[in-house]
Amino acid sequence: MQADVTIESVGARGDGIGRIGDRRVAVEGAAPGDRVRVRVTAERADTLVGTVADLLEAGPLRREPPCPHFDACGGCATQHLEESAYADWKRSLLLTALARNGLDAALVEPTVQVAPATRRRARLSALGTARGAVLGFSERASRRLVDVAVCPILTPRLEALLPGLRAFLGDVLPSGARLDVDLLDIGGTVDIGLVGGAEPGREAGAAAAAMARRAGAGRIGWRPSDAAAQVPLAQLRPIAANFGGVAVAVPPGAFLQATAEGEAALAAFVRAAAGQRVAELFCGLGTFTLPLASGGARVVALDGAAPAVGALMAAARGASLPVAAETRDLVRRPIAAADLKKADTVLLDPPRAGAREQMPAVTASRAGTVIYVSCNPVSFARDARMLVDAGFRLERILPVDQFLWSPHLELAALFRR
Ligand SMILES: C[S@@+](CC[C@H](N)C(=O)[O-])C[C@H]1O[C@@H](n2cnc3c(N)ncnc32)[C@H](O)[C@@H]1O
Repeated sequence: MQADVTIESVGARGDGIGRIGDRRVAVEGAAPGDRVRVRVTAERADTLVGTVADLLEAGPLRREPPCPHFDACGGCATQHLEESAYADWKRSLLLTALARNGLDAALVEPTVQVAPATRRRARLSALGTARGAVLGFSERASRRLVDVAVCPILTPRLEALLPGLRAFLGDVLPSGARLDVDLLDIGGTVDIGLVGGAEPGREAGAAAAAMARRAGAGRIGWRPSDAAAQVPLAQLRPIAANFGGVAVAVPPGAFLQATAEGEAALAAFVRAAAGQRVAELFCGLGTFTLPLASGGARVVALDGAAPAVGALMAAARGASLPVAAETRDLVRRPIAAADLKKADTVLLDPPRAGAREQMPAVTASRAGTVIYVSCNPVSFARDARMLVDAGFRLERILPVDQFLWSPHLELAALFRR
C-alpha cells in the first residue's frame, strides 16, 4: 500500500511520524515537514511502518546525511535530521519518559553532545563470501550486512582499521560464516574481539598477528559467545584503560563507556555528587570506582562480570586504594538494605533493563545520596519514580548524548533525601 503523508514529528526510534487516515504511520528516514509517498511495509501494534517511496517535498528540518551508507545502514537512525531538530528529538526521549512518570522535566540540564568520530566501542558483524569478507552493520530491519567503507561515528583509529581487518577476515572466514566483531579503541591501541561462529583455524593466529601489526591493533581473540572465555589469536600490546589516573587491565569483552568524552562528563558528575562512603552497584571495570577512591572515598563495588571485578581489584590493590569489589549477579541476588548500612551514597549504573530489583534496599537504606547513571531514560524514569515516592528529591539530571544519531541516550541523575 502507498499513501502521501506529511511528517509531523520524530518517533522514539527516529522514524518520521505522520498519519494515513486515522492510523499513525512511522516512516524511516523521514523528517518533520517532509511530504513523502510512503510504502507501507509492516504493522507494529497500533502503528503502520513504512519507507519513503518518493520524497515529494523536503521539509525544513531535513539535511544531507553525512555518511554515504546512511540510506541502507541500520547503525544510525537520524543522520537526515538538521542538527537542532536532532538535539531536540534526542532530549525529548528523556523529557517524555520523565513526564510519563510525573517527574520534573524542568530539571534537565543542557545536553552534553559528543562529536562525530568519537565512538571508541562498537559491535560490527562480518560475513565470509567467495569474494572476501563483508564487514559492517546490518541493514535496517534486516540481517543483511552493509559493507562499510567509512563510518563517521567511529574514532579515526577504528575507521582506519577496517580495510586491514576486512582483508584478514576474508582470508580466515569460510564463505557463509558470520560473526560479530567487537572493536575497542583504548590506550592508544585497538582491542578486537571476534564473537560467534566456528573457532578460527591454526593459521588464523599468524594472520591475526600480521594484521594487528600492520593495523596497529594490540590484541585480537575469538570467543564462541559473549559469555564464553576468549581464545587469544594475537597479543601485541597490553590493553589498559585509565580511570582517574589508575591503570586497569581490560579483560576481553569488558564494558567501557562508548566515548571518552561521555565517560569524562559522567565521571565528573559522579565525583561532584558522591560522599565519602560509597556503595556502587554495576561498577564494571571501575570507571567511577577508581576516580572516587583516588579522591579519598571508601568504595564497596559490585558487578556480575568476574573478569572486570578481578581487574578492578588488582588495579585498586596496586594503587593502595580503599576499594572492596565483589562479583555478584544483582538480578538473582539483589543488594540488601543491610549491605548498604555504612554507605552515605549509593551509585548505580545498571544495564538497559534498569535497577528495579535494587530499589527496595536503596529506598530502605539510610544513604542520603543516590547517583543513578543510565543508558535508558525509560527504565531510569521508572526507577526514579520509586526513589521519589520513597522520599528522595530529584536534584539534577544531565543528558549525555554519546550514542550519536541513534535512539539511545545516556544520563546521570542526582537524588538526595
Ligand atoms: C552500563 S555498564 C556500567 C559499568 C561501569 N559503571 C562503567 O561505567 O564502566 C553495566 C554493568 O552492569 C553489569 N551487569 C549486567 N548485568 C548484571 C547483573 N545481573 N548483575 C550484576 N552486574 C550486572 C555489567 O557487567 C556492566 O559492568
